[in-house]
Amino acid sequence: VHPALVVNRAALLPPPGGPGDAAEQEVFVEIWPYASYGCTLLIVLPQAPLAGQLLTLLIDYEAGEGPGVCWLSPEQTAGKQKPYMYTQGQAVLNRSFFPCFDTPSVKFTYSATVQVPEGFTAVMSATTWEKQKDNTFVFEMSQPIPSYLIALVVGDIVSADVGPRSRVWAEPCLIEAAKKEYDGVIEEFLVVGERLFGPYVWGRYDILFMPPSFPFGGMENPCLTFVTPCLLAGDRSLVDVIIHEICHSWFGNLVTNATWGEFWLNEGFTMYAQRRISTEVYGLPYTCLEAATGRALLRQHMDATGEDHPLNKLRVVIEPGVNPDDTYNETPYEKGYCFVSYLAHLVGDQSKFDAFLQAYVDRFKFQSITADDTLGFFLEYFPDLKEKGVDSIPGFEFDCWLNTPGWPPYLPDLSPGQQLMRPADELAELWAADSLNMEAIEAVEITGWRTYQLVYFLDQVLQKSPLPEGNVERLSKMYPKISKAQNAELRLRWCQIILKNNLEAEYSKVKDFLHSQGKQKYTLPLYRAMWGGSEATRALAIETFSDTAPQLHVNVQNYVKKILGLGGAE
Ligand code: BES
Ligand code: ZN
Repeated sequence: VHPALVVNRAALLPPPGGPGDAAEQEVFVEIWPYASYGCTLLIVLPQAPLAGQLLTLLIDYEAGEGPGVCWLSPEQTAGKQKPYMYTQGQAVLNRSFFPCFDTPSVKFTYSATVQVPEGFTAVMSATTWEKQKDNTFVFEMSQPIPSYLIALVVGDIVSADVGPRSRVWAEPCLIEAAKKEYDGVIEEFLVVGERLFGPYVWGRYDILFMPPSFPFGGMENPCLTFVTPCLLAGDRSLVDVIIHEICHSWFGNLVTNATWGEFWLNEGFTMYAQRRISTEVYGLPYTCLEAATGRALLRQHMDATGEDHPLNKLRVVIEPGVNPDDTYNETPYEKGYCFVSYLAHLVGDQSKFDAFLQAYVDRFKFQSITADDTLGFFLEYFPDLKEKGVDSIPGFEFDCWLNTPGWPPYLPDLSPGQQLMRPADELAELWAADSLNMEAIEAVEITGWRTYQLVYFLDQVLQKSPLPEGNVERLSKMYPKISKAQNAELRLRWCQIILKNNLEAEYSKVKDFLHSQGKQKYTLPLYRAMWGGSEATRALAIETFSDTAPQLHVNVQNYVKKILGLGGAE
């Protein structure tokens, strides 16, 4: 195992206020190979410290080829003029960026001084940001955060205001589009979030549009969310990602899962919070429609892995040496959402449950906790429910929610979304028929449908695929709005449909989409579909991967290699 960090020297600094001539003391450092994703840094102090004694340790190190720090060539940026670097810490990648207690159970403040070459700007997930002379930027994060939330970008980036405490950051060629996409909408989400979950403690909420290879839709780095440029759909249709990342300001960044085995505490609560804000801003029907697309993803995931798979539990056992990223899937998100919805259902009154969420954040802010803390607090907050023994209703035991794999025992009612889903369900039904009823199909006008209605429709079509011979070709011709879509969520589904129906004439669209971006949740399903398909789709997979591999985040590269049997690590 190669150390991702190269440590040149470490020393114990003299205590502040001590004698002026006190010297640094060298300390003994050793690096222990641990697992493919990092090493243990062992530091031996010259003498045993006293309990409570403050020690200042100086570590002189260089970040090497580790996965946490990504160095992009100009060709890998949107502007293609200057190189770019970014860090991605979650889950355990920041140990290759700086030496740290790289666990979400430890929180600390930080400051950083970053000197960059002329013509570059540095930004970090910090509460204050100051540019000094000599291209030096000074940052400070004044609230305690876990290591995975420290993030840095250096690139040719500029910013534009989009609200009283928000701006967008992007490469110059994208800044107009970025401003247009989110001008004037962010503040409303923050205000509703504060009303529902309590004060926003991070000061600013800025958004940074990353280069196309950024592996996530969004990453909730405090004060500065990182997002994929795929969100620039031109019509705000993918704003749910922003609402999601904003919700991590309370769930995840303030109240944090103590271990990656209970990741659902971050993501399940955030999905619930996201849909609460969405309900307030966009109404229940639309939010239920969005939630139905989430449920479809959970269905696909469980079908693909088998319901009984040990990762299909909310509380996952991550053995030492296993990279938590390898356990990433839909369960913590959507089954987690169902469990939080179930807790709300037990309470039976939305405003009481909202008040609980606010009390929960207040009780555990700046701490790292386990599900036992969460559920213990829930029962303490609602003593009458505790009295009734709601934690042990047969089939719905809290213990069963946490420790039994499989489909959620309770699903929130999404029927308020029926008015939007039904037309899509019916249309998918028509397209799946052996002989097409064109009159009925033409009577359905989809030009006015929202993006998520189309997404929902395509998920239904995908589920029914392969369709009878010739149907998908006709569908493609009939709806250029879908088959020629630029919106990434639509492109993903259309590509999946192309592959599942062996629509060879449109294979180039799969290739184009995979060339245009590197988001993990888009990339892996398409490679799985190609590899599980025909000889032609397998060839397409190999060809596409050999062209695009250098552009992908190393983690994504390795997962694709695993899918293609090239010896990566899925
Ligand atoms: N924190 C996650 C992204 C993440 C998860 C990074 C695990 C590394 C390891 C982020 O909040 C997230 O969930 N993003 C989603 C957005 C979606 C659920 C709206 C994404 O990227 O797709
Ligand atoms: Zn999230």
